Amino acid sequence: MRLSEARALVQLRKPEPDRDERTLRRCVTIEDLQHAAWRRWPAGVRGYVEGGADAEVSLARNRAAYQGLGLVPSTLRDVTDVDLRTSLLGRESALPFALAPTGYTRLMHTGGERAVARAARDAGIPYTVSTMATTRLEDVAGEVGGDLWFQLYVWRDRGLVRDLIERAKASGYRALMLTVDTPVIGLRVRDAHNGFTIPPQLSALTVLDMARHPRWCANLLAGAPITFANFAREVGRTPEGVMEFAAKQFDPSVSWEDLAWIRGLWKGPLVVKGLVSPADAAQAAEVGVDAVVLSNHGGRQLDQVVAPLQMLPEVRERVGDEFELLIDSGIRRGSDIALALALGADGVLVGRPYLYGLGAAGERGVAAAISMLAQELGRAMTLMGVTTVAQLRAEGAALVRY
Ligand SMILES: Cc1cc2nc3c(=O)[nH]c(=O)nc-3n(C[C@H](O)[C@H](O)[C@H](O)COP(=O)(O)O)c2cc1C
Repeated sequence: MRLSEARALVQLRKPEPDRDERTLRRCVTIEDLQHAAWRRWPAGVRGYVEGGADAEVSLARNRAAYQGLGLVPSTLRDVTDVDLRTSLLGRESALPFALAPTGYTRLMHTGGERAVARAARDAGIPYTVSTMATTRLEDVAGEVGGDLWFQLYVWRDRGLVRDLIERAKASGYRALMLTVDTPVIGLRVRDAHNGFTIPPQLSALTVLDMARHPRWCANLLAGAPITFANFAREVGRTPEGVMEFAAKQFDPSVSWEDLAWIRGLWKGPLVVKGLVSPADAAQAAEVGVDAVVLSNHGGRQLDQVVAPLQMLPEVRERVGDEFELLIDSGIRRGSDIALALALGADGVLVGRPYLYGLGAAGERGVAAAISMLAQELGRAMTLMGVTTVAQLRAEGAALVRY
């Protein structure tokens, strides 16, 4: 057969000149974005994103918890119009999920927090900027905006903490999320093996690793130096690296009294992230917190800890129907979100999924990750016979089997 004859039979696709667009065309699922990001990241960055604590039992358990559950769909219902909108912390969100706080985001792509914030804003969902952000919280709010939440670590230096809270308030952050599962930083074995540091330090191992990823290196060098942007001044004054500075700031003495102090300082929605115990959730509700995030930090802190999903029905039972419960750790698909909502969550957070998108294709990659999860959730709900988030919550118990 001649080429001209073959052309008549198959439509030849025009080559796509844009590399990110080419990447995204091949990506159908979050796993595809993950693999695309892996190809772009040096081993140190990949290990930092993917790693869990110690033996990574909880990291695996987070996924297994979702995979071990079954959905029980209702058939022959009119599911023409599925509505994914819901309310998160008292404001409408286009989707029942928000983007979780992640540190050092500009390491994954020079677009960093700005790129993530734009994608979240354009999708109509909240984004939580981390204390460990590599872009100043004022810059994310001023240049991008959207429904921004700020994640807080209570550091040894309480003056810095008060300062941060005031800066977040002044910049228009709508909610404050206090992370409570980090009295010390977990042991990330992959980081130790990879000699991973921030800023990246040059050893024989890391030079070789970076040489294999020239695009990532060029991307990194194109941006401002990676630092702890919210504390560039304080970090600059210490002789140690950024990571050591941060590790020393985690404070094992943080207690419920600090939470009460923060409640006094922050009048807007206050969220506590990083507990899994029903008693802790009930106590948080009692001291006037507006919501909690059941989380084991994506398996990065205490290893062997239960998957938050395992605790969700019990926590819901304990705090009652009205209290706002969010959950994260291990959500990779729309059907995972459906499971969490059916078991009693009002919404979920995702961490690594949007970092994969960011690594794969910057802002467009984050947008792709959000859109994949939204479409999967919409399809799952349609196939389950439910058309709204409220219906999913109300009929939940009947829709899931262990
Ligand atoms: C690379 C990375 C950095 C993170 N940094 C923070 C952080 O600065 N503050 C925080 O509260 N949680 C942090 N987390 C935890 C996330 O907010 C979230 O709890 C976790 O990623 C959810 O699990 P998932 O990645 O399976 O979705 C981080 C997680 C990852 C993967």
